[in-house]
Amino acid sequence: MQAEESSQLLADLGSVRDSQQELQAETQDDSSQAQLTERIVSLGDWFHNINLNGVWTAPHHFLGDFPNVKWKDISKSFPEDLNGSSVLDIGCNGGFYSVALKNRGAGRVLGVDVDDRYLRQARFAAEILGLDIEFQKCSVYDVDQIPGQFDYVLFLGVFYHLRYPLFALDKIIKKVGRRLFFQSMMRGSIEERKWKENYEFWDMKPFQDPDFPCMYFIENSYANDYTNWWIPNRGAVEGMLRSSGLEIVNRPESETYVCEPRTVQRDGKYLLDLELSGTF
Ligand SMILES: C[S@@+](CC[C@H](N)C(=O)[O-])C[C@H]1O[C@@H](n2cnc3c(N)ncnc32)[C@H](O)[C@@H]1O
Repeated sequence: MQAEESSQLLADLGSVRDSQQELQAETQDDSSQAQLTERIVSLGDWFHNINLNGVWTAPHHFLGDFPNVKWKDISKSFPEDLNGSSVLDIGCNGGFYSVALKNRGAGRVLGVDVDDRYLRQARFAAEILGLDIEFQKCSVYDVDQIPGQFDYVLFLGVFYHLRYPLFALDKIIKKVGRRLFFQSMMRGSIEERKWKENYEFWDMKPFQDPDFPCMYFIENSYANDYTNWWIPNRGAVEGMLRSSGLEIVNRPESETYVCEPRTVQRDGKYLLDLELSGTF
C-alpha cells in the first residue's frame, strides 16, 4: 500500500471515529434530556414554566409562558444586581420567582408554600439549576414566626386564594424590610379614583358605583378553583394596601404593585396586633 493511500485510510478511520463519538454524545444528551423530562413529569403538573437545562416544566400552561409573561415587566422593578439582598417568596409554587431573583444576585432566598407537590418541584428546579435556595413548608398565616425581615417580600398570586386575606397581608407586612411585591387577580372595575374621607350612614350612592372599592366573594368556585375566595377590584386592592400602611411606589404590570412600608405601626405597634387585641 502506498504511503498516500494509508494516510487517507487513517484519516477516514479518524473521521468515522469522530462521527461515532458525536453520535454517542448526542445519544447520551438525548437520554439525559429524556431522563430529565421523566423526572419533571414524575413531579406532577407544574404551574410554573421553568427552563431546566433545556426542558420546560409547563410548556402548555393555559396562561402562556407563565409566569415569565409577568416577570418580564415585574423584573424591571428589581435592581439588575440584587447584591446579596434577602428575599421571601410567599406562595412560591414551583420556585420561578425565587430562581429568577437568585439568578439576579440575591443572597438568602426563602420560598414558602403549603403545597408539598409545589415544594418538591421548587427544590428539584433549584437542584437542577445548581442554586442555593431554601424552600420550606409554611403557611402565609405563619410567616410572622419566621425570624427577621427580608429586603424583598413577594406576595404574588396568593391573596385571592385566602379566606382571610387582610389578616395575611397584615402579618406579611411585619416581614418587609424594603419592598413588598403584591399581585392579585382583579375583577370588576379597574378604575382608580379618589374617594371621600367619610360617607353619611344614609348615603347609598357609593355602593352603586362600580369603581367603589369592593371584593367579590366566591361562594363556590371560580375558574374551576374553589380556593378563589375573594376577588377585589382595583379600588379595593389599592385601598387595602394603603390601609395596611403601605405606600404604592410602582405598578410594573396591571395586577402587580410595588409597595414600601410607611405607617405599618401606630405607637410602636403593628396594625395586626392592635386589631387582635381590640385596641385599634
Ligand atoms: C396561583 S399560585 C401563585 C404562585 C406564584 N406566587 C406566582 O405568582 O406565580 C398560588 C400559590 O399559593 C399557594 N398557597 C395557597 N394558600 C397558601 C397559604 N395559606 N400559605 C402559603 N401559600 C399558599 C399555593 O399552594 C400556590 O402555590
